[in-house]
Amino acid sequence: MFILESLSIHATKEEDTIKVGEALGRSLKPGDVVALKGELGAGKTVLVKGIANGLDVNGEPNSPTFVIMNAYEGRIPLYHFDFYRVSGVSELEGIGYEDYFYGAGVTVVEWADRVEEVFPESAIWIEINIPVKKNTNSNVREINIEGEEKWLSLFRSMVERVLPT
Ligand SMILES: Nc1ncnc2c1ncn2[C@@H]1O[C@H](COP(=O)(O)OP(=O)(O)O)[C@@H](O)[C@H]1O
Ligand SMILES: [Mg+2]
Repeated sequence: MFILESLSIHATKEEDTIKVGEALGRSLKPGDVVALKGELGAGKTVLVKGIANGLDVNGEPNSPTFVIMNAYEGRIPLYHFDFYRVSGVSELEGIGYEDYFYGAGVTVVEWADRVEEVFPESAIWIEINIPVKKNTNSNVREINIEGEEKWLSLFRSMVERVLPT
C-alpha cells in the first residue's frame, strides 16, 4: 500500500520550475514514473528540461511533436513521453510502453491524464496550473506534486534548499 502525500510549490518564474525539475531529477530512481498534467503552455516541457538536468542528461528535451517518446542517456536514462495525440491504451501497447514504464530509466509523461489507466499505483502525479489566467504573460505557476510520503519528504528537503519559501 502506498501512503500518498502532496506538496504545492509556487514558482514565480521559469527558472523556478527548472529548479523544481532539477530537484526531481536528483531524487528519482530507475523505474520511477512521473505523470504530468496541465494545459498547453503550463510548463510541462520546462519541468522535463529541469528533470533532464537533474539526471545529468546531455541535450535538452523539447516537445516530441511527431513521436510519442524520446529517450535520452543520462546518469539514469530518461524516457520522455507526450500523450497529447495518443488515442488510447492499445496505441501505447503497440509501441511497447511497458518496456519503458517498468524499465531501467525514469519515465516522464506529458498529458498523462489522456490515458490515466496505464500508470502504476506508485506513479508521481504532478499538475501545473497557471493561477493568473487573465494575464496571458503571467510567469506564475502552481506546481502540485503527489507521491509516496517517504519519497516526497526527501524531495521536499531537496527543493527547499534550492527554492527557499
Ligand atoms: N514559472 C514558469 N514555469 C514554466 N514555464 C513558464 C513559467 N513562466 C513562464 N513560462 C513559460 O511558459 C511556457 C511553458 O511552455 P511548455 O513548457 O512548452 O508548456 P507545456 O509543455 O505545458 O505545453 C514557456 O514559454 C515558458 O517560458
Ligand atoms: Mg509540452
